[in-house]
This record gives sequence, C-alpha cells and structure tokens, in this order.
Amino acid sequence: MTAPTDVAPPETARRSATALWTFAALALAVSGVVIAFIVGAGTPRTSPSGFPEASLLVQWALPSARAIIDLLAATTVGLLLAAAALLPSSKDLLAPAPARAARLASWLAWVWALLALVVVVLSYAETFATTVTDSLGLPKLLSFVSQSNQGSAWLVAASLAAFAGVVAREADRPLGAWVALLLALGATLPPAVTGHAASAGNHDLATSSLVVHIMGVSLWVGGLLALVWYARTDGRFLPLAVRRFSPLAFWAFVGVGVSGAVNALIRLGDIDVLFTTQYGAVVLIKVMAFVALGLLGWAHRRHALPQLDAGAPHAFARLAAVEAAIMVFTIGVGVGLAATAPPASDATEAPPPAEVLLGFPLPDAPSVLAILTGWRLDLLVLAVLLAAGALYGRGLLRMHRRGDRWPVGRTIAWYAGLAFVAFGTLSGLAAYGRTSFSLHMTQHMTLSMIAPLLLVLAAPITLALRALPAAGSKQPAGAREWLLAALHSPFGRVLTHPVTAFVLFITAPYVIYFSGIFELAMRDHWAHQLMYVHFVLVGFLFYESLIGLDPVPYRASHPMRMVAIFASLAFHAFFAVALMSGDAVIAATFYETLDRDWWPDLLEDQTSGASFAWAFGELPGILVLVVLLFQWSREDDRRARREDRQADRDNNAELAAYNQMLQDRRDTPPA
Ligand code: HEM
Repeated sequence: MTAPTDVAPPETARRSATALWTFAALALAVSGVVIAFIVGAGTPRTSPSGFPEASLLVQWALPSARAIIDLLAATTVGLLLAAAALLPSSKDLLAPAPARAARLASWLAWVWALLALVVVVLSYAETFATTVTDSLGLPKLLSFVSQSNQGSAWLVAASLAAFAGVVAREADRPLGAWVALLLALGATLPPAVTGHAASAGNHDLATSSLVVHIMGVSLWVGGLLALVWYARTDGRFLPLAVRRFSPLAFWAFVGVGVSGAVNALIRLGDIDVLFTTQYGAVVLIKVMAFVALGLLGWAHRRHALPQLDAGAPHAFARLAAVEAAIMVFTIGVGVGLAATAPPASDATEAPPPAEVLLGFPLPDAPSVLAILTGWRLDLLVLAVLLAAGALYGRGLLRMHRRGDRWPVGRTIAWYAGLAFVAFGTLSGLAAYGRTSFSLHMTQHMTLSMIAPLLLVLAAPITLALRALPAAGSKQPAGAREWLLAALHSPFGRVLTHPVTAFVLFITAPYVIYFSGIFELAMRDHWAHQLMYVHFVLVGFLFYESLIGLDPVPYRASHPMRMVAIFASLAFHAFFAVALMSGDAVIAATFYETLDRDWWPDLLEDQTSGASFAWAFGELPGILVLVVLLFQWSREDDRRARREDRQADRDNNAELAAYNQMLQDRRDTPPA
C-alpha cells in the first residue's frame, strides 16, 4: 500500500484556530464543574464539621484540574485510537496523518502527566487542609504518595501517561500506536479505582462500573475529538475513519449509559432520591446530556454519514462540533459530580468492618444454593465476557456466511469457558471467595485450570485469523494485520513462548500466596480484578503452549510438552503440600477483620483449601495429558499420510536414497 500524501492548511491560521478551540474546550470543561457545584451543593465537598477545610483555591483548583486531566486523557486516547486503528496505514508504517496524530498525542500525554503531578500537590493540600505553598515539600509529598491510595494513584497515572507519551513519540507503525493507546487507557484508571467509589458501599460494583464508564467516555469522546481534529487538519480518509469509529462509538455510548446508571444507583441507593437531592439533580443534567448525545448520534447515522460518504463532510463536521461541546461540558459535570457528596444513606449505624472491607454484607454460612444463587453482577467482568462472546459469535457468522466450516466442539468449548469464568467471577462463589480461603481456592482453580483449558480448545486466534478479512497490498492494514503484528512482535513472542508460559504457571501460586500479594488482592477490588485476569491469562498461555491449536510463534515438541505437564503437576502438588503443612494463616488480619461466625478455624479452612487445590489441580493436568497424547498420535498419523503421499508421488525416493546410502556404506571398504 502506498502511504497516503496530505495537504496541510496555512500554518499560522491553523495554530491560532487550534489555540482557540483548546481554550474553548478547557473553558467548557471547567464550566461543567462549576454548574455541577452550583446545582450539586453550592461549593465543592465540605469537610465534616470540626475538621479543618482546605482553602477555597484548593477546593476549586482540584476539580478544575481533574476536569482538564479527564479532557486531556480523552483527547490523548482519541488521537492514539485514530493513529492505531481509525486512520489508514500499512501494517509496517504509520501514514503521515496517523503519525501526526501520534505525535500530537505524545505532547498531550506529557501535559497530562505534569498536571497529574499538580493534582498530587492539590490532593495533599485538600487532605491536610493546608495551602498549596505549604504542600510543596518533597518529603511530605513523597510520604503522601507512598502512604495514601489517592497519592499513589495519581503518581501511577502520571507515570503511565508519561510513558504513553514516549511510546507515542517513538511509534512508527500501528503496533506502537496500539501500545501507547493501551498505556493511555491504563493511565485513566488509577484515580477512578481509588476515588470515593472505592470506599463507598458496594465499592466493588461502584469501582468496576466507574472503570467501564471512564473507558467508555475516553474512547467515545476522545475518538470524536480526534475525528474533529482530523477533519480540520486533513480529512482525506474521513469517511473510512468515521465508518471504523461508528461501531465503537455505539458500544461506548451503551457502556457509558449503563455504567453511569449503575454508578448513580449505587450512590443514590434509591431511584426516588434522583429527584429529591442535589446529587440527583447533577445526575439528571448528565442524563439529559446523554440523551442529547444519543439523538446527535442518531442524526449522524441518518444524515451526516450518508452525506459524508457522498463527499460532503460539512454536516458531519457541524454535528460533531456540537456533540464534542456537549461531551466536554459533561466531562466537567462528571468531575463535579465525583467531588459532590452523595446523599447520606439513611442507615443509622456505621456498617460493620467486614462490610467496609468487602463492600457488601458478610454472607451467611456457605451452601451450594447460596453459591448458585448469590450472583453479583460486576459490570466490568460482564462487559468483557459479553464482548468475548459477541466477537467469537461474529467470527462464526462470517465463517458461516462464507460457507467455511468451524468445528462445533470448539464453539461449545468457547462458551463453556466463558460460562466458567462467569461462574468464577460473578456467582456466589465470587462473594464467598472473598470471605473464605478454601472457597477462594475453588475460584482460583476454576479460573486458572478449567476455564482457560476450554478457551484454548476453542482456538480463538485461529478463528479470528480465518474470519477477519486480509488486507490486500493496496489496502490499509486492518484487525487481522494488527493481530498478526501483535502475535509476532517481540513482546508477543516472549509472552506466548512455552518457557514463559511454563515459568508463569508454576511460579504464580508461590508468588501470590507466599508474599503479601494475596492480602492486597483480598483488600482492594482493583487488585482482586487483576488477580482474576492473571489466573485466566496465565492458565490460557500455559494450556495454549501444550495443546493449543492457534498459530503461535513457537511450539515445543510433543516430548517437551509431556515433560512440562508432569513438571507442572509436581510443582502444583508441592505447592499444595507447602500450603497444607504451613501453620501460619495467610492474610490473617484480613480474615480476622471479617470475623465470620461460620468456619471459625482459619487454619483448617486454609488446609482444606490446599487439599482441594491439590485434588482439583491434578484433574485438568491429566485431561491435558490425554488431549496431548491424542494430538500427538493424530500428528503422527498426518505425518505418516504425508510421507506416504510423497512416497507415492516420487516413487519412494527417500527410501531409495536411504537404501543407496546403506549400499554405499556396505561397498566402501573400511579405511
Ligand atoms: C446516563 C448518563 C450518565 C450517568 C447516569 C452518569 C453518572 C456518573 C456517575 C454516578 C459518576 C461517578 C461520580 C462519582 O464518582 O461520584 C460519573 C462519573 C463520570 N462521568 Fe458520568 N454519567 C453519565 C453520562 C456521562 C457522559 C455522557 C459523560 C461524558 C461524555 C460522562 C463523564 C463522566 C466522567 C468523566 C466521570 C468521572 C469523573 C471523575 O471521577 O474524574 N458521564 N458519571
């Protein structure tokens, strides 16, 4: 594909227009904060009575800075999305316009990182009710970022944003832009998962829905802002870029609406409060903005996009500008809402320590019924599972439409695998997994042994590569080329290498349970979610390296794979024995704080968890052994058939050559 050439408008005019647009966007975002405070409670959150209050400057500067950060974050994410996926490039080289988008994103990411450090200072001043100047002491700030969730969250966000900026700056192919995009998306999360969503009731559901909300807003608002920027600075491939963005915009719209509603309901406690409280009034502003954005989206599809395809971009540019203005304003309102005290719950007593820790009341003694019926719908996990199910289904549909066959066993394996992930993360097992070690171990085995085994047998990468259209030499790279580039990238090669998979799989339990990681994961919802990801991913990589059907860069020989299975069974058994023979309770303080009135003997619960892990862990290992032996014999059959066909074709040349070699040896007198 030849790189598209572009025509740049007069530099000075473009610079002053960009400056004007930037100022307008910043003013809109901050005015959203102001409106939220006026409607919400007059001024930013007031400290409980008797507690010193931060200065008015700090009270206004902090949410204003946060609104500007959310806007910078969305724009950076949008420009990187444009560079990686929306604007056309070949798979080996970013075209000029996407390269410009990545470069602009790198600058915005660094401003974002700097502003995040400013928010560390402002958060310190707000937390300790002191002035900005008094907060500027390095030792103070260092202890603040090392000891407070809020402080460390902003430092992590600043580091990830700065790193995204570096990667974006160096990106010369779509894969680089993809990596920078993932880093930038990651940088939007720490403040969300450690904000007051993480301390309120139902904080597990609140945090997860806020993560979906922030991701949806960043991709949706950012993508649109990037298209507005592209339409103003180039626009040659605008129809293609908009067509690529449209499905994402639709699902982000759905995600933002559902997650916003879930989040609002958790804070309001009751829908009636929406119309009777100031917090509710601010939420209503957002609902109105959301509906307006939905209508604009509809108008895009009905009028602007057909005109754009017909070569008239003006309707799109006008609608998009109005849409972007509403979005930027609503970001400000969202930040104002986040800094507004939710309506006080009518609970007279403070929740017990277990409920504060878990985010939900400590459940009664476990039973099969309670495990099967006690579902807690974590929006983030649900969104990932629905996306995984829908994408696999879409691949099947494409294969079917093309008349290509796909083994039904693989389809069953995929959806059964997703069902086991849902059971392990959303059912009563998830709630009890937070309260009992042995039930946590059941969760661990389900997520790292059973679910990944099924997901691997479903050969998802093979389906993706067969279902996705391959870009011709004259066409821009698409999802298939990006997947192949990721799989064969240095990181992809290392991650899918059998040795990496083996080492991660056998060391993980030791590292998680015999270090402080497990207690951290039990205390913090975001760390718990990361533990789920780790279980499924490491299990998938290990089973993929043993019995996977997908075209990964390296595949060990069958004998080596056999050795890996037996070794993993041994390491797993040793782990269980080490756990069983231990006399210290892992995460003791956490379990003691729960103070559950059932299964009081924590060590006994831990020992039964270990024995369960042992028994449960060996089963998939044996199953994998059977599958591997079956694959090995089939591979041998295939090779034998291939060799037979070759022998038929070349009249058994290989055997003849071998016999000739033996004959030559016999005929050569010993030296
Ligand atoms: C149905 C419509 C929506 C509802 C019910 C809703 C509700 C919420 C709630 C409850 C929060 C959490 C506030 C807190 O932490 O207390 C939030 C945060 C947020 N919302 Fe929405 N939202 C909606 C639509 C939108 C839209 C359309 C946007 C932007 C285009 C948006 C941008 C944000 C942002 C940026 C935050 C995070 C603020 C921060 O913590 O930095 N929301 N939203």
